[in-house]
Amino acid sequence: MDVITIDGPAGAGKSTISKMVARRLGYSRLDTGAMYRAVAWLLRQKGVEPEETEMVDRICGSCRIEFRGDRIFIDNTEVTDVIRTPEIDMLSSRVSAIPCVRKHLASMQKAIGQAGKIVAEGRDMGTVVFPRADFKFFLTASPEVRAERRKKQLDKSGEIVLYATILRQIMERDTADSSRAVSPLQPADDATVIDSSEMSPEEVVELILAEIARKKEKR
Ligand code: DC
Repeated sequence: MDVITIDGPAGAGKSTISKMVARRLGYSRLDTGAMYRAVAWLLRQKGVEPEETEMVDRICGSCRIEFRGDRIFIDNTEVTDVIRTPEIDMLSSRVSAIPCVRKHLASMQKAIGQAGKIVAEGRDMGTVVFPRADFKFFLTASPEVRAERRKKQLDKSGEIVLYATILRQIMERDTADSSRAVSPLQPADDATVIDSSEMSPEEVVELILAEIARKKEKR
């Protein structure tokens, strides 16, 4: 099937790394966090609260999520940039704890994965969505390093948010993502765990490619 999974907490560098790994291997990249963000955006747009589970189920079960290169569309509206705000950070975390949302998105993700040759990034790629993936990685970094990276990203997009606020939100999201009942954030038993706190993106990519080559050779 040729699937590489990269899971890990917010700000561990998954997006940068998965883009680089996909480019090096000629694979496409599946950003599953963007799918949760898009659903969160759509629910807010429709004025539906995460607690209104019946409505959430209906909307999520009938929405159409589409990737065109690195751009994402939900029901034909492009949401690539509007889903990258601190508000959607928090809302998508709440939305991702709803079982019916996970069910719908996981089946969409499996369908996309059928084509093979993908680098799937998220929280439960190696554990739930692609348990039989060929290569699994779990990328992590200290909360402080992740908050610094996120601050740089937000600064670049012109959004002014205090470092302390970002750090607090990252820690809150970590707790929410790893303690939720469905698909909590945790490394798959057979995942290679990489702590990227002291590593450059290039070093992480080289490590991943070396690990893939090593495993392929052993087969
Ligand atoms: O990776 P991200 O920050 O864009 O993800 C947004 C939210 O979606 C985050 O709170 C975790 C959640 N998520 C998830 O529960 N499962 C995934 N496979 C991907 C993201």
